[in-house]
Amino acid sequence: MYICVCKGITDKMLKDSITSQGGNISKGLKALGVGSECGTCLHDSIDNIKKQLSKNDENNPPNTSVISK
Ligand code: FES
Repeated sequence: MYICVCKGITDKMLKDSITSQGGNISKGLKALGVGSECGTCLHDSIDNIKKQLSKNDENNPPNTSVISK
């Protein structure tokens, strides 16, 4: 499913990017440029990914401390 239409980014692409960035959501988003155009996808993307990742690993939540556009 596309989460960022401007950049053509799917949820799988974002999950892979976050994984390659050691679970850091902010770095995963920045690596793909999610939210860097219109920005409408940014908060929905973060919420969805946080929910999916927390379901996968409730004892080791992703690092969301530095989320910025
Ligand atoms: S939909 Fe992601 S920046 Fe526009």
